[in-house]
Amino acid sequence: MPILGIGTYLLSNAQAKNSVYWALRDGYRLIDTARIYGNEEGVGRGIKKAIDEGFVTREEIFVTTKMWTSDFNNGAAAIQGSLSRLGLDYIDLMILHHSQPSNDVTAYKAMETAVSEGKLRSIGLSNYYTPSDFDRLVNATTITPALLQNETHPYHQSKEMKAHLKQYGTVMESWFPLGGRGNTTTLFNDKTISSIAAAHNKTSAQIILRWHLQAGNIVIPGSSNEAHIAENYNIFDFKLTDEEMQRLTDIDKNTRFASY
Ligand SMILES: NC(=O)c1ccc[n+]([C@@H]2O[C@H](COP(=O)([O-])OP(=O)(O)OC[C@H]3O[C@@H](n4cnc5c(N)ncnc54)[C@H](OP(=O)(O)O)[C@@H]3O)[C@@H](O)[C@H]2O)c1
Repeated sequence: MPILGIGTYLLSNAQAKNSVYWALRDGYRLIDTARIYGNEEGVGRGIKKAIDEGFVTREEIFVTTKMWTSDFNNGAAAIQGSLSRLGLDYIDLMILHHSQPSNDVTAYKAMETAVSEGKLRSIGLSNYYTPSDFDRLVNATTITPALLQNETHPYHQSKEMKAHLKQYGTVMESWFPLGGRGNTTTLFNDKTISSIAAAHNKTSAQIILRWHLQAGNIVIPGSSNEAHIAENYNIFDFKLTDEEMQRLTDIDKNTRFASY
């Protein structure tokens, strides 16, 4: 899957349409949405516009959406609903939005069925924060989660979960990669991050995103701003040194910004 994508949390349908369109035009091939964001239709319209204008084909892009917890007992209908709101005949990756021990196995099995029907290409999880919770789901199901999407950024580097995922070949995807809407200045003004940014003549956002990629995290920065979307993609013309990566590893506080 593509390693850098556009996130759409808190974007309206109109904003999501624009952000997805700008991102695909700029070279992004990965899109992240969720039923609970209420913007799958806007995301679908952005995809359609980019395809209609010849920037991409459906096969070149990778669309992720998430099944919300209140849909877990009606997984098949939830999958169908996302397909129709997105205007797609398959989804590249669907993930369960949150751990919910009472019925997440049921929901995951509905996704497994949809894989066999060709409606979903791959499946995974989001918001499983302990190895035992992750293993609980894995041990009760058949298809190994392709991906785990958790809050991950320089102050919460998810080291324990990433080490645990290795045995499964499951990849970590970072949400709140920049700290999340309302928290970004905390990371942007961090002395280590901003000094590395100055050394490379890049922005703090670009340094953080480059850190995610070099640390092996798939990353989906959210943005409704055309210039930010272009800036966030412009991170493939430089490399952080081993020493800079170590300095960034060292600022981990193992603390999250979100409380959910
Ligand atoms: N699974 C989950 O539970 C979960 C939870 C949260 C998020 N997510 C997913 O992960 C994605 C990323 O998280 P997020 O969007 O919440 O937070 P984020 O990517 O850490 O931060 C988004 C914030 O950063 C700003 N920003 C983006 N690029 C910037 C730049 N180059 N310079 C300055 N500011 C910049 C955005 O403002 P502008 O709009 O002005 O650019 C927005 O305020 C979401 O969009 C969503 O798809 C998943």
